[in-house]
Amino acid sequence: MKKVTEAVAAPSSAAKKSRDEIKKLALIGTGKLGEGLLSAMLQSQAVPTGRVECTVAHQPRADYLNGKYGVKAHTNNVQAVKGASLVLIALKPQQVKAFLQEVRKTLSKDALIVSAAASVTTSMIERELGHPARVIRAMPNTPCLIRQGMTALTGGKHATAHDLEVSQNIFAAMGRTVVADEKHMDAITALSGSGPAYVYMIIESLAEAGVKLGVPRDLSTELAAQTLLGASAMVLHTGEHPAKLKDVVTTPAGCTIDGLMELEEGRLRVTLIKAVVRAAARARQLVECNNS
Ligand SMILES: NC(=O)c1ccc[n+]([C@@H]2O[C@H](COP(=O)([O-])OP(=O)(O)OC[C@H]3O[C@@H](n4cnc5c(N)ncnc54)[C@H](OP(=O)(O)O)[C@@H]3O)[C@@H](O)[C@H]2O)c1
Repeated sequence: MKKVTEAVAAPSSAAKKSRDEIKKLALIGTGKLGEGLLSAMLQSQAVPTGRVECTVAHQPRADYLNGKYGVKAHTNNVQAVKGASLVLIALKPQQVKAFLQEVRKTLSKDALIVSAAASVTTSMIERELGHPARVIRAMPNTPCLIRQGMTALTGGKHATAHDLEVSQNIFAAMGRTVVADEKHMDAITALSGSGPAYVYMIIESLAEAGVKLGVPRDLSTELAAQTLLGASAMVLHTGEHPAKLKDVVTTPAGCTIDGLMELEEGRLRVTLIKAVVRAAARARQLVECNNS
């Protein structure tokens, strides 16, 4: 099966609009997500290389980022936030509070804070900074790493519509973005955040079905994955209800209806609903742990 390493870049004109407003971007925690963001932002020209300063925990990682992207990268968060007009937090959730306490005296009161840390609320960030900070919370997912992501964004008490727009432009370099109410963030975490894992399981199962029927595994996996991609694109492009699109595939007395009957008997729909509800309950628990 052909390996996908790079997807088509998202249109970057919107991202470019915000570019001039970003005097300095401090990217805090440049791991998997942070590097994905960095790479997408630089490629879409959402921010010029010379205006980005990245931090990590270990110097070798900083050297790697500097070598690969030509950005200033180091391990000093206080230095990174000095003079930053935009601070992008991509730390692990449990590291965010200590970071805010570390930089609160240095951070400019005018800086826009965008956090992609799962389960960290805007109110916790506002509280830890101790001033009416403009805070945006983002919930991306792993396909962001190949620019096919889904990121939901929400604004804190003091964030403006323009702050949301600037943040959307940043994440648009990694895929699709939506603005949502913060009260929906646990559900969004469980749906589009965890969602890729559910979908991989579905792809894996469909591929196994192909294998059971004698189709080579690679071919089976490609057939399954592209089918999910195509069906998803149909939903997004046509705007039709998924049930209506399903009906189009389902010929009377054909084979699809037999397959659907098996799925109903296996309670696929209720199982998926319960999976998301259960993951959302866990997301709520994590919010309690990471924001007290
Ligand atoms: N991965 C995704 O697609 C994804 C999707 C949705 C949300 N998120 C959220 O994104 C955040 C990061 O996830 P990740 O998967 O990117 O984790 P990760 O790969 O472990 O990255 C964390 C980075 O933080 C750095 N770091 C640790 N302590 C630091 C400190 N005190 N100051 C500065 N940098 C520090 C680490 O540096 P070293 O490399 O030097 O150790 C590492 O590069 C999490 O909150 C997660 O919930 C990620």
